[in-house]
Amino acid sequence: MTLSAIDFEFMAHAFRLAERGLYTTMPNPRVGCVLVKDGQVIAEGWHIRAGEAHAEVNALLAAGDKARGATAYVSLEPCSHTGKTGPCSQALIDAGIARLVYAMEDPNPLVSGNGIAMVRAAGIQVDGPVLEDDARALNPGFVRRMERKLPYVRCKMAMSIDGRTAMASGESKWITGPKARADVQRLRARSCAIISGVDSILQDNASLTVRVDELGLPNADEAAAKQPLRVILDSQLRTPRTALMFKQSTPILLVHNGKVDAAQLQGWPDFVELIALPGKDGRIDLTALLRELAKRHCNEVLVEAGATLSGSFLRRGLLDEIIMYMAPKLLGSNALPLFNLPLDTMSAALSLKIKDIRAVGRDWRITAAPDTEY
Ligand SMILES: NC(=O)c1ccc[n+]([C@@H]2O[C@H](COP(=O)([O-])OP(=O)(O)OC[C@H]3O[C@@H](n4cnc5c(N)ncnc54)[C@H](OP(=O)(O)O)[C@@H]3O)[C@@H](O)[C@H]2O)c1
Repeated sequence: MTLSAIDFEFMAHAFRLAERGLYTTMPNPRVGCVLVKDGQVIAEGWHIRAGEAHAEVNALLAAGDKARGATAYVSLEPCSHTGKTGPCSQALIDAGIARLVYAMEDPNPLVSGNGIAMVRAAGIQVDGPVLEDDARALNPGFVRRMERKLPYVRCKMAMSIDGRTAMASGESKWITGPKARADVQRLRARSCAIISGVDSILQDNASLTVRVDELGLPNADEAAAKQPLRVILDSQLRTPRTALMFKQSTPILLVHNGKVDAAQLQGWPDFVELIALPGKDGRIDLTALLRELAKRHCNEVLVEAGATLSGSFLRRGLLDEIIMYMAPKLLGSNALPLFNLPLDTMSAALSLKIKDIRAVGRDWRITAAPDTEY
């Protein structure tokens, strides 16, 4: 493999293009492509929306005849199969590119290595993987779904500096400020599904939608166009039919434990689907739920619940990332914890790896992952 510093720079450029699809490509991956000739970028492309042209095709269209002899930098192996669009590997070959540099193999079993093999078989130089960890980080959900048939699960919590998430009465509006709440809106917008527990619905009456005016994005309309699936875990169907979330008619999945009366299953609005996924404890089987969401092509999912449900996800080892918005406030010792996690000894403590800490308005955002090394 012959790679130079400039190859890394152009690949980073392809990543920045891929990020433009952060809120819109689902369930497809975010992908960017740069065509370079004589050290100059001659065309850029990225995948904008599922069902539309892939990044490579957009870049080739922009380059026209100039693509002949160019190097193509792609953040994901070009596809080799005909889905909603033709195979990108063939398009690159037909356009006469001289070299392909790819960041990671496509984990989609329909591709995985075949795209690279096709381009190589056409006598074109192929180099990669390049910056593979960064490429995977662009698409944590797509990669997880392809490799493990599960979505990538984030849990978001707003907490005080003493780690409390609601008052004992259940009141929790608002712990954090408007900038942190806008950040949560962007987390929702990049997610395919939002999971909450019935007690949060009863207490907060949240609509769990992406709101255009709160996103603070130049492409806010588009980012909010495809609303995430709202998933409510409600073993006994206690959700009131008057809840605010039914005011918006984007899909809702109400998950119960299968032991409800037939009458309880009737009369919901047509955008509400009810399914039974009973767990051993009479509640919902969380692993089965995540498998079900992966089957429904959910890449990234966001858990936005209280300490009970968030604690269940954590205890079962089902969280990939925890995002805590920490407000400079003390809610006091009567207030509710971050996770229901009944531990007694220091040796039982769970370790987290901090991945990122940054200020968001007057609050702090801490991104952590359960630390499997301990
Ligand atoms: N600070 C924040 O970021 C934040 C975010 C959300 C909520 N909150 C606050 O948190 C409070 C509500 O939290 P909560 O802990 O009472 O409720 P919750 O975690 O939102 O919901 C818990 C409920 O989910 C249902 N559930 C179904 N399957 C489950 C499973 N496998 N494991 C656990 N629960 C399951 C259970 O009810 P069934 O047994 O009836 O199914 C359970 O009681 C409210 O005060 C709200 O304001 C804070």
